[in-house]
Amino acid sequence: MVDYRIVVPSGIVFDFNNMMGAGRLQPQEVEQALQQQGAVAEKAVCELRRSGFAKKHLSKDGTPEHVYFPRMPYIADGNPNTEQSIIKLMRYSKHLRSKDVVIFLGVGGSYLGNKVLFDAFGGYHWNTSATLRQGQPCIYFSGNNLDPVDCNSLLFKMRRMAGVSAQEGKKLKIMLVPISKSGTTLETISAFTYFYANLSQNADIDLDCTVVTDLQAPIGSAPLLQLAEKFGWERFDIKEGIGGRFSIMTDPGLVTMAALGGDIEEFLRGARDMDIYCRQAELAENPALLNALLKFMAYERGRDIEVFMPYSMRLKSLSEWYVQLLAESLGKRCNREGEVVYYGRTPIVAVGTTDMHAQTQQHQDGRLNKVVQFLEVANPEEEAILHNPFADVPFFDKYEGMDMAKALKAALNANEAALTGDNRYNARFTLPKLNEYYLGQLMYFLMLTIAYEGELADVDAFDQPGVEVYKKLMKAQL
Ligand code: PA5
Repeated sequence: MVDYRIVVPSGIVFDFNNMMGAGRLQPQEVEQALQQQGAVAEKAVCELRRSGFAKKHLSKDGTPEHVYFPRMPYIADGNPNTEQSIIKLMRYSKHLRSKDVVIFLGVGGSYLGNKVLFDAFGGYHWNTSATLRQGQPCIYFSGNNLDPVDCNSLLFKMRRMAGVSAQEGKKLKIMLVPISKSGTTLETISAFTYFYANLSQNADIDLDCTVVTDLQAPIGSAPLLQLAEKFGWERFDIKEGIGGRFSIMTDPGLVTMAALGGDIEEFLRGARDMDIYCRQAELAENPALLNALLKFMAYERGRDIEVFMPYSMRLKSLSEWYVQLLAESLGKRCNREGEVVYYGRTPIVAVGTTDMHAQTQQHQDGRLNKVVQFLEVANPEEEAILHNPFADVPFFDKYEGMDMAKALKAALNANEAALTGDNRYNARFTLPKLNEYYLGQLMYFLMLTIAYEGELADVDAFDQPGVEVYKKLMKAQL
């Protein structure tokens, strides 16, 4: 039997055996599509890498705009990351060690990737464990909603922490970091002004700010930049050609890596190795192209929902990041010729095993309209071994000595086998482990996949005209 899987030299595996077979895709049709549409998409992505332009892509203002995400992994003058920008981030990382708290304020592409980094490399106990932080600050996020309850709960928390610091005769040192390319997004600006107004009045708080925005914007239309100039705040750039959901490997995402004291160079090295591998691979060995092609072909056969299901709580926010990447990039009314196509899969966040008790019934028995994308970490860094503390209840003996990680894997294998047994489309990515290098590989791989699928479907993967409609209606009310 043919084994349909690609093992990238780093050890990441893309297993697409279950996209193929009865009721699913046939090897000959995939091979044919690869040599025809796949080859065209490959050429277009090469051109994107070379020129920095994607076919017919225009900015919101209708002018040609660069798409530089494929340059993010390469540290070089003229690229989104330069030696100086990386040095600046590293200095900033050290500087943040003098702060007690950093609050990142942003939404969409100026938040989701940052939360992935926090959950993967900080996690549940970051804010309560000084041992884990090793001198880096506590990290919080806000501004990703217009929810007063959410904002107030963080504000109260800051006041409580400031009260504790005051009892120790110190001020609580807080760094507020609004992240916004436009500098005018309502969620971010509301949260920033709300926190600034409240925290700067508090005598027990020493407040500082850093702005992350488009530093080339005309100052008159860049409120965050105006403030940074006026108060002398630190600033980081969201460069031309870097759009929200494709920005995680540049300043707006890397500031969170800096706050965590994470390894920025490893993160970029992972992305770079993935880019080099995909660039040099034969069509049939290019995992990003194949991932795009198989999902595109499945879509043409009615699979217009993609369930992204990591078997890891720490990676749930990766699924949320992927929702934006897929939905905003490929959910398009018109193709690049202006014809109405209503393209795109609806992304669904799921996490194993939690959602096996919630969504799997629908995945297994519901309409034949889904692709389930599994993600596993082969070697989780922790184990949890079960022992029976209830000697007089023999039921518990059967799990004596069981490692929870083994059960997690068994659950994934079972879910996968159950779907496959009913000829339902599914695929699996395996990361050898969760670290900066492999996360960089995976996130870049997903962005590249989306660029390929944009080419296959002939839609502009880098704009989001649909969100302007509600924005106009909302502005009229405020
Ligand atoms: O992907 C996108 O472009 C959007 O999700 C934006 O990131 C989001 O709307 C926030 O925009 P800004 O960074 O301008 O505040």
